[in-house]
Amino acid sequence: MASLNYNIDFGSVCKTQLIFCMVLYFVFISLSNLYPSCPSSDFLSSFWKTAPDISISSRSVVSPTISNDSPTISAISNDSPTITNDPTISNDSSTISTISNDSPTNLSHLVFGLVGSELAWHHRKAYIESWWRPNVTRGFLFLDKEPTAELLPWSRASPPYRISENLATFLKKPDLTAQRIVHGILETFREDHENFRWLVMGDDDSIFFLDNIVEILAKFDHTRYYYLGGHSEFIFSNYWFSFSQGFGGAGFILSAPLAKALAKDLENCLRRYEHLEAADLTAMSCIADIGVSLTPLRGIHQMDMRGDASGFLSSHPQFPLMSLHHFDMMEPIFPSMDRAKSTSHLMKAAKVDQSRMLQQTVCHHRQSNWTFSISWGYSVHIYERIMPRSYLQYPIETFETWLPNPTPPHYMFNTRLPSNDSCEAPHLFFFKSIKTTPKNDVFTSFSRAWSRGLLPCSSNSAEIITKINVISPETKRTEIERCECCDVVRVHGSKATVKIRKCMSDEIIA
Ligand SMILES: *[C@@H]1O[C@H](CO)[C@@H](O)[C@H](O)[C@H]1NC(C)=O
Ligand SMILES: *[C@@H]1O[C@H](CO)[C@@H](O)[C@H](O)[C@H]1NC(C)=O
Ligand SMILES: *[C@@H]1O[C@H](CO)[C@@H](O)[C@H](O)[C@H]1NC(C)=O
Ligand SMILES: *[C@@H]1O[C@H](CO)[C@@H](O)[C@H](O)[C@H]1NC(C)=O
Ligand SMILES: *[C@@H]1O[C@H](CO)[C@@H](O)[C@H](O)[C@H]1NC(C)=O
Repeated sequence: MASLNYNIDFGSVCKTQLIFCMVLYFVFISLSNLYPSCPSSDFLSSFWKTAPDISISSRSVVSPTISNDSPTISAISNDSPTITNDPTISNDSSTISTISNDSPTNLSHLVFGLVGSELAWHHRKAYIESWWRPNVTRGFLFLDKEPTAELLPWSRASPPYRISENLATFLKKPDLTAQRIVHGILETFREDHENFRWLVMGDDDSIFFLDNIVEILAKFDHTRYYYLGGHSEFIFSNYWFSFSQGFGGAGFILSAPLAKALAKDLENCLRRYEHLEAADLTAMSCIADIGVSLTPLRGIHQMDMRGDASGFLSSHPQFPLMSLHHFDMMEPIFPSMDRAKSTSHLMKAAKVDQSRMLQQTVCHHRQSNWTFSISWGYSVHIYERIMPRSYLQYPIETFETWLPNPTPPHYMFNTRLPSNDSCEAPHLFFFKSIKTTPKNDVFTSFSRAWSRGLLPCSSNSAEIITKINVISPETKRTEIERCECCDVVRVHGSKATVKIRKCMSDEIIA
């Protein structure tokens, strides 16, 4: 969403902001050095503590905790002296008291609010239809105006549409785009909040991985106040908008009590922050005023980058993939396919196993000194020397910055620079096809994108390999706190076969 409002005069603010940014950065560096043992993942660890079972396949929410907490719900619902602008939002407890606290969260508990525009929907429809499950996924697409004849009759594979409310009745601003997006939260809530646990807001050029979203949400207590989302990959976007906001194109997720409280205050809040031009910043401000701060999740991707995103997608953070935004802004993610085709191609793998989607698995073929780095369902890289996982976890910077920005740091993660050194540059293979075998294995094949065109690193060139088969278990991944391991089981002629398995307790990937 934030991208909609990027037509700021970037050049003029750039210099002063950057200098300030650098100062902050160095303060941060020196502070971190003062506390070298401070773990970086503190933020999430407190959440994981409340959910002792972090195995991704187990949907059992910690029921004792939840049932003990249920009195808070009624307390929450009965309070609120807040002004209700909307008579349909009752403040009695009926809306959320129907939540059955002992049943695991499933897709039926999620309601999506996707905000798009009539103009863009003609080509963005393909992105949404690639993941939307008609009559199963709940939610609506909000358009700025009635669809033209070309879009009618409305596709059954698309979410049902609604036309956004006219906000000019209470806001006096010429451009209400940002406010229309934020108001979508209230409109979605109003349309459908029966037995819902989570409200997911997103843009119309994003792909959501529903099974993973459900798995992750099932670990949170939906009767509490949660605002889940993702940062921008581009540091400056976080600085310029806010490090405290979830970048909404990629989706932010509100638990039921928060969605309810937000819907109630929304129109007041839009007046309070009428001066803001950015939707996500406005939404964050409204949420912060309710007393809730962002819990960032590393599987939600704004994809604030340009050009070739393959380097990023080949070294995905160790967290289940939840969303990918900005499909319109980068090159198609598969070579020789257009954007729509790339999207449905990626979803072929996602339909078989979302738990492994883009998860990076590294193994070595010692006889030839090769390293295989697999991004499940997307790509395989072969390097002609032994490289440790610690190094390969950093994406190769195949992509460019979201906005022109000469001064590093650019990204919220470390990168490796592309290289023409034959001991550094990988051979690239992309996802071709997937099938389940009678032996309950998943068989994914990858084919070479192009010849690397460099001399071999040592005596063993991987240039002859044109096809790689990756075999993974049909059972979903159950550990998200440790990656999986693999074995190169066969290299024969132009073909290599790699098998993914659980890591041994003392296994070292280097
Ligand atoms: C909500 O609560 C307020 C104050 O407690 C009350 O005045 C109002 O009538 C309630 N609204 C509804 C729809 O129940
Ligand atoms: C989802 O959970 C509800 C209970 O909250 C249950 O009634 C429903 O059958 C479940 N749906 C699926 C698809 O498992
Ligand atoms: C969804 O449900 C409606 C009404 O129950 C039905 O007419 C329609 O064919 C269904 N769509 C799909 C894609 O199953
Ligand atoms: C693999 O690399 C090691 C260390 O660089 C080297 O000693 C060995 O000869 C290499 N083996 C092959 C087959 O290239
Ligand atoms: C690698 O070589 C190619 C072809 O000579 C060139 O276009 C490219 O810019 C080089 N890349 C780097 C990172 O040096």
